[in-house]
Amino acid sequence: MGNIKIAPSILSCDFSRLGEEIKKVEEAGCDILHLDVMDGHFVPNITFGPLLVETIHRITNLPLDVHLMIEDPEFYWKKFKDAGTSIISFHKEVVESPNGLIDTMKRENVTVGLALNPGTPLEDILPFVHSVDFVVVMTVDPGFGGQKFIEEPLEKVKILSEMGVTVEVDGGIRVSNAKKVIESGADILVSGSGVFGEPDPAEAVKRFKALANR
Ligand code: DX5
Ligand code: ZN
Repeated sequence: MGNIKIAPSILSCDFSRLGEEIKKVEEAGCDILHLDVMDGHFVPNITFGPLLVETIHRITNLPLDVHLMIEDPEFYWKKFKDAGTSIISFHKEVVESPNGLIDTMKRENVTVGLALNPGTPLEDILPFVHSVDFVVVMTVDPGFGGQKFIEEPLEKVKILSEMGVTVEVDGGIRVSNAKKVIESGADILVSGSGVFGEPDPAEAVKRFKALANR
């Protein structure tokens, strides 16, 4: 194991104290900050855009991992890059042939991720898994934090991990179920309510890190 990264999602944080919340997890030793961008079309929820990402970029040194749950990543990805994001993932469900977009983003030195929903077969992304830098395997249906972990997608994580693909697992992950996510071969664990929904987010990060470094 080892070298597994913890990426808190700010979706479940107290936005009235966003700066303090980010500082808490940064000081607790998280590796990446996961920013869930939703457009109200690809998912039935709207969160935030480049303006907030730019603010976050100013107040933290953490790498920003923008998860585009939007219908038009081709149009918007560059606005998030320009806002200070170095890592951007988009959903296979909205891009039939993602090779062009992947190449364009990589040319701009973006770390590119391809995300797939629990209901999307692994076969849909297999032709692209070695073109992207990582794959995001969703373990909830995207749109909201605090949902119940879906176990079946861990099969996809196992297969991708055995193929040497870097895998980020996203949705419903808590300290209590992190071990099986890690054992499936995950390289990056995203947790929103499992960190910011806890009474002590810093303590939650430390517990995730302890599991990750076993
Ligand atoms: C869901 C998002 C996830 C979510 C994770 O659409 O992509 O990143 O915020 O939050 P939890 O860990 O609460 O499921
Ligand atoms: Zn996400």
